[in-house]
Amino acid sequence: MKIIRSISKIKKELSRKKRKGLTIGLIPTMGYLHEGHASLVKRARQDNDLVVVSIFVNPAQFGPNEDYMEYPRNLREDAVLCKNEGVDYIFCPSVKAMYPKGYSTYVKVKGLTENLCGKFRPTHFRGVTTVVVKLFNIADPDIAYFGHKDAQQAIVIKRMAEDLNMDVRIKVMPTVRERDGLAMSSRNGYLSSDERRVAPTVYRALQLARDLIRLGDRDAANIRSEMRKMLSPVVSKIDYISIVDPKDLKEIKTIKGGVLVAVAVWIGETRLIDNIEVKA
Ligand code: PAF
Repeated sequence: MKIIRSISKIKKELSRKKRKGLTIGLIPTMGYLHEGHASLVKRARQDNDLVVVSIFVNPAQFGPNEDYMEYPRNLREDAVLCKNEGVDYIFCPSVKAMYPKGYSTYVKVKGLTENLCGKFRPTHFRGVTTVVVKLFNIADPDIAYFGHKDAQQAIVIKRMAEDLNMDVRIKVMPTVRERDGLAMSSRNGYLSSDERRVAPTVYRALQLARDLIRLGDRDAANIRSEMRKMLSPVVSKIDYISIVDPKDLKEIKTIKGGVLVAVAVWIGETRLIDNIEVKA
């Protein structure tokens, strides 16, 4: 496994491999890797000749009062996980290399970025799509892998790849959960032990929504209100509890067909997001 920091070096190395006909799977990450990332690597390992994991805490996707500085970083442990999973390259550029002085170009997907997390983190998705385009241009992957936990991110990236005629397939893999249902996230480490104990309520609220829909409830407002009753006693703030159409991420009133049930809540000082897709 090679660890490469230089953009020009990884571009040269990967384009040489592509000319030889090898396929590349890319897993873009911000590091502090966990089993969720490992599941993406495993899938990429099955699908491709070469697997590249990028590790870059992208300042462009953090708002001014968000946790860019505190975001956990541990390249040494990330390298161990990647090596054990058979990764070929870790690409870990510096902020200066990705956004040199004078950097001025951003990619914005309209519409899909305005609801859910976009409402509460207005510059977040512009930062995500910008860095993802840069990573795609650098690694030129055949397939790129993202987790369903960040469902809105995955939908936005798919839209962008299609709109910009990019030659990359986007694969979205299922959310990996702890035994008690909490979706794996690099931010779970922020939780105190008391907060960690109640955090699985987030998934339980999603399961409640799924059960109500399966029992025939089609009234999104009622389902959201039942979820709110379950979440309110354990969270410090609710950013949103939403039931949306997975195609356009618009709120749904009456449930028909498939819906995305998504939540963003704060437990103490930690913002957690999670979602499930449910078919009526
Ligand atoms: O999901 C993440 O970890 C990040 O948003 C991504 C896709 C690596 C872009 O920085």
